[in-house]
Amino acid sequence: MTDFLHKMSLQNFFLFLISFITLMILIIQIIFPLDPKKKKLNLPPSPRKLPIIGNLHQLSSNPHRSLHAISQKHGPIMLLHLGSVPTLVASSAEAAQEILKTQDLSFCSRPKFTIPSIITYGCKDIALSPYGEHWRQLKSIAVVHLLSNSRVKSFQKVRVKEISRTIDILEKSCGSLVDLSALLFSLSNNIICTVAIGGTYDGSKLVNLLNEFLDLLIVFSVGSLVPWLGWIDRVSGVVGRAEKNAKEFDEFLEGLIEDHVNKKRSGGHQSDDQEESFIGILLDVQKDNTINFKIQRDSIKALILDMFAGGTDTTSTTVEMAISELVRHPLIMKKLQQEVTEVAKGRSMIIDVDLEKMPYLTAVVKETLRLHPPAPLLTPRMSTQDVKLLGYDIPEGTQVLVNAWAIGRDPALWEDPNEFRPERFLNNLIRYKGQQFNWLPFGAGRRECPGIQFGVVVTELVLANIISRFDLALPNGFKDEDLDMNETCGIVVRRTSPLMVIPSARF
Ligand code: HEM
Repeated sequence: MTDFLHKMSLQNFFLFLISFITLMILIIQIIFPLDPKKKKLNLPPSPRKLPIIGNLHQLSSNPHRSLHAISQKHGPIMLLHLGSVPTLVASSAEAAQEILKTQDLSFCSRPKFTIPSIITYGCKDIALSPYGEHWRQLKSIAVVHLLSNSRVKSFQKVRVKEISRTIDILEKSCGSLVDLSALLFSLSNNIICTVAIGGTYDGSKLVNLLNEFLDLLIVFSVGSLVPWLGWIDRVSGVVGRAEKNAKEFDEFLEGLIEDHVNKKRSGGHQSDDQEESFIGILLDVQKDNTINFKIQRDSIKALILDMFAGGTDTTSTTVEMAISELVRHPLIMKKLQQEVTEVAKGRSMIIDVDLEKMPYLTAVVKETLRLHPPAPLLTPRMSTQDVKLLGYDIPEGTQVLVNAWAIGRDPALWEDPNEFRPERFLNNLIRYKGQQFNWLPFGAGRRECPGIQFGVVVTELVLANIISRFDLALPNGFKDEDLDMNETCGIVVRRTSPLMVIPSARF
């Protein structure tokens, strides 16, 4: 054999190699013929893909925008490959309805992502947990005990306290340039921290831990796209970063839980915020024998992390985008200020009960969520079985993205879809928690956002209080229409450039 190889020229050697490989492939195909079912699959249209990276090169830093552009060519249901992950992209209300309602049960699991899994105790939370008993029980605990209407109402004093604090900061900054994006982020962060863990723990490591946690949820990970290249995440240090964050957050949450348990046991004093916080409630649920599900300590911690992830930048982004649109549309701002001022009747603070008297405010928020859904591709789902979707075959294990951003701008569903026109929501039946598929900022079906009520009250209150007290101007040289409205990349997107404004007191 060695003699034979020596005698061959390089060219002949390659010819021999290619013929050998071809022959082996033929033999393998004869011995293990393709599954006849697979041969006849009617898969959705796909743009051309490259080896290893698939269609990744066709995505910009705004994937929802790129996917929308690709869908203009390939249709409202397409199959892409993000790395080696087959990904179904739905960009019409009809396709969304099929996925989120008619066939919800087949599409309601989640794909497993390497890094988010490390920082959520192996997906023991709600948002990333695969569909099953664990997810069902945890979601029901969240809906009944943490995010119900009565619970959300009971947090009014937290909202009032934190909004007042923000108003004070704005008052002191009148006439100077303010980073409103940062202020809004810290406001919703403080609200969710107080509600979830009983305090904001100023000066502690919490803010850094949280920011790192939110960054890691969306960090680029090779292993989630091309599993056999997962080792790159370890070499690049991203796995190490996630493990460090998971360890430090765990120590922090363990400390809080121990504190609660010890104070309860010894009858020590707890503040109202601590007593009524999600941690306090979850520890009570854990002891409640009438609930036939024993919530594990890791799940309590993962659930708290979910509340941070779900409740922080979703609401701050919505207010940020609403104010950006209002600054670009002074007449709409004026109309909204008029409504809010009339309802406030000279009071310095607008509170929960005032909101139902403000239909225009609700219309402004809904229109903002149509044009700028904070989670433009919802949260990725995964098919749990082979499914037929509007005539196409979707194999089990396919990742699914619903492009809520594209649906909200579909000219077949919305007149002048790119215009900010809140009036369109004054006389229609679209409700925050509705059954419509042309407006999907909170998703729908089994995986629908459980924090709608919480998110909407915070968003509406913050917006109403800020614009009732202040006029907001852009810095010198900036025209309203020049305001950059681009978003960052991520499950939850934010403005690429912070919203800088100069506030002036209205009264
Ligand atoms: C304006 C505010 C908010 C928006 C736009 C929003 C949007 C969303 C979206 C699009 C999803 C994915 C739905 C799907 O896959 O079909 C989701 C899921 C979720 N949201 Fe929200 N959300 C908001 C506020 C909140 C708040 C305040 C919380 C909690 C405090 C929260 C907690 C969650 C959780 C736990 C999930 C996972 C549900 C599951 O997988 O079953 N969200 N949210």
